[in-house]
Amino acid sequence: MAFDYRKYVAFKPVGKTDRRWPDKVIDKAPTWCAVDLRDGNQALVKPMTVAQKQRLFDLLVKLGFKEIEIGFPAASQPDFDFCRKLIDENRIPDDVKIQVLTQARPELIERTYEALKGAKRAIVHVYNSTSTVQREQVFGLDRAGIRDIAVNGARLVREIAARHPETEWTFQYSPESFTGTELDFAAEVVDAVTEVWRPDQGQPVIINLPATVEMATPNVFADQIEWICDNIQRREHLSISVHTHNDRGCAVAAAELAVMAGADRVEGTLMGNGERTGNMDLVTMAMNLYSQGIDPTLDLSGMAEITEVVEACTEISTHPRHPYAGELVFTAFSGSHQDAIRKCLARREPGELWNVAYLPIDPFDIGRRYEEVVRINSQSGKGGVAYVLERDYNISLPRWLQIEFSKMVQKEAETNGGEIDSLTIHRLFEERYLKVHDDWALRAYDLHRDSEGVQADVTVGSGTTERSLKGRGLGAVEAVSDALERQFGISIAVEAYDEFALGEGTNANALACIRLMAGGQHCSAAALAEDTTSATLQALFSAVAQVVGTEMRAAETRPDTVDA
Ligand code: KIV
Ligand code: ZN
Repeated sequence: MAFDYRKYVAFKPVGKTDRRWPDKVIDKAPTWCAVDLRDGNQALVKPMTVAQKQRLFDLLVKLGFKEIEIGFPAASQPDFDFCRKLIDENRIPDDVKIQVLTQARPELIERTYEALKGAKRAIVHVYNSTSTVQREQVFGLDRAGIRDIAVNGARLVREIAARHPETEWTFQYSPESFTGTELDFAAEVVDAVTEVWRPDQGQPVIINLPATVEMATPNVFADQIEWICDNIQRREHLSISVHTHNDRGCAVAAAELAVMAGADRVEGTLMGNGERTGNMDLVTMAMNLYSQGIDPTLDLSGMAEITEVVEACTEISTHPRHPYAGELVFTAFSGSHQDAIRKCLARREPGELWNVAYLPIDPFDIGRRYEEVVRINSQSGKGGVAYVLERDYNISLPRWLQIEFSKMVQKEAETNGGEIDSLTIHRLFEERYLKVHDDWALRAYDLHRDSEGVQADVTVGSGTTERSLKGRGLGAVEAVSDALERQFGISIAVEAYDEFALGEGTNANALACIRLMAGGQHCSAAALAEDTTSATLQALFSAVAQVVGTEMRAAETRPDTVDA
C-alpha cells in the first residue's frame, strides 16, 4: 500500500517542563526581515530579473522594512549584479540594511564580500546545516565536523569584514535545519560562532533559527526557541531571529509563538512565497498584530499595490482566500453572516473601536470597499439582499418584504448558479414590486377628512381606461380599498404596510410597501413617489392589479358608486 502512515515517525517533543511562553502576550512587533528577494526568489519557477528585484525591493522599502535579504550573490550572477546595482546606484536608503546569504564556504564568503564592497551597512548571513539527517546522510560528518564548518565560516566572515571598516557590518548565523537539530548541539554550534564574533564586545550579531522544514506543531518550535534563549551564551547581546517555513501550514503560528518564546526578529516573505509550501507570510503576521491593536511598524494600507507587485514579480497569483489580501476575504455570501455584518455596520459610530461580527479588521484600512463585503448568491439571505438595496439604491425594505423578496433572489441565483450583482437585484425588485402599469398609474387624489373618517376621490389609468374611484374609510388606505372593493367586487384586507422617507440622492422622496389579501389572494407591491400618500396609494393599486389584472378594459370602468 502506497498511502501508509506507518512509514513516518512522530516528532519527539523537546521535553520542556518549565515553559513560560504560553503566558506571554505579543505586545510589540518584532524586527522584520523580508527574504522575498532571496528565499522567495530561490523558490520561483522563473527567478526574478534584476528589474523585478528592483521593483520588489522598492516596495519593501516603501512598506517600511529596514532589513531586506536581497540575494545569494555568491551563488547567482543576477543576485550579484542586483547587489552591485543597489550599492553602485546608491539605491539603499540610509536606514535600510541589505542582507546577503552565503554558505559557510571560503570561496563563497570571499565572493559575497565582493558583492558588498562599498555598502554603507550590510548583514552577512552565513549558514550551514546542522540537523542529524544532514550530518549523517548529506555531509557524512559528525558533530565536531559540522561545528568546524560553522566556526571556520564565522572566522572568515569576521576577517574579511575587518578589512572593510568603511561598512557597518552585522553578522548573522543560521544553523540551517535547526528544527531537526538536537538542541544541545544547536546551542553548541551557536556558542562556538558567537565565541568567534563576540557580540559581547560590540559586534552586532543575529542568530537566526530556521524551521527549514516545519516538522512539528508550533508549540514544539516555541519550546525549541525558549530552550535556546535560556541555554546559549551571550544571549543578551544577540538578536534571536526565526525563519519559519510552512510545510504543515503553521509558519505564521510558529513565528508568533516563537516571538512569545523570546525571538526578537522574524524573517519571511510577502504573501508567503518560498521553498515548497512557502516562507512565513509577513503580511499575515503583521496584519495579525495590527488587528490586535499593535503597531506592525509596516504600512500595509495599500494591499492592492502589494498584491499587484508581488504577483508581477513572482508570477504567482494571490489566492482569493489569502488572509487579509485575498479578493474574497472580506466578503460574506452566507445569509446569517450578511445579516450580522449589516447590523453591526449600521450601529457603528465614527471613531468607535472596531467590533463588527465576521470582519476581523475594517476592510477600509487596507483599501478595500464596503461594497465588497456583502455579495449575493444562493446562500444569501434576506439581510444581504436588503443590505445591497439599501447600500446601492437607498431602498429600505420592511422585514416581511425582505423575506419575500430574498426568496425570489435566491431562486434566481439557484437558476443561474452563481453570484447575483447589485444591478440585477435592483432590476428584479423593480420588475416584481415597483412596476406601474399604465392602467393602474395614480393620476390624482383628493382625501377629505371629516368627522366620520376619510373620503377618497382618486383617479387612475390613462386614456380610455382612466377612471375615477370614490370610497370611504377610517384612513386613506381603507378609503381607497373601499373604492376598489366597490369597483371590482372583491374584498381587500391590508396585511402589512410600511412607508419610508428616502434620503438624499434619489428622485423619489418616499417608498411604500404593502401586502394585501385581495379577492382571496395574497399580493404585494411597492411604490416610489414624491410623497408618502402617493407612494402608498400607488402601492395599493399595483398590488390589487396583480389580482384583478394589469390591463383594464374600458367596460370594466364602472360609474362612481359612492355617495359624495
Ligand atoms: O530555510 C532555511 O533554513 C533558510 C536558511 C538559509 C536560513 O532559508
Ligand atoms: Zn528558508
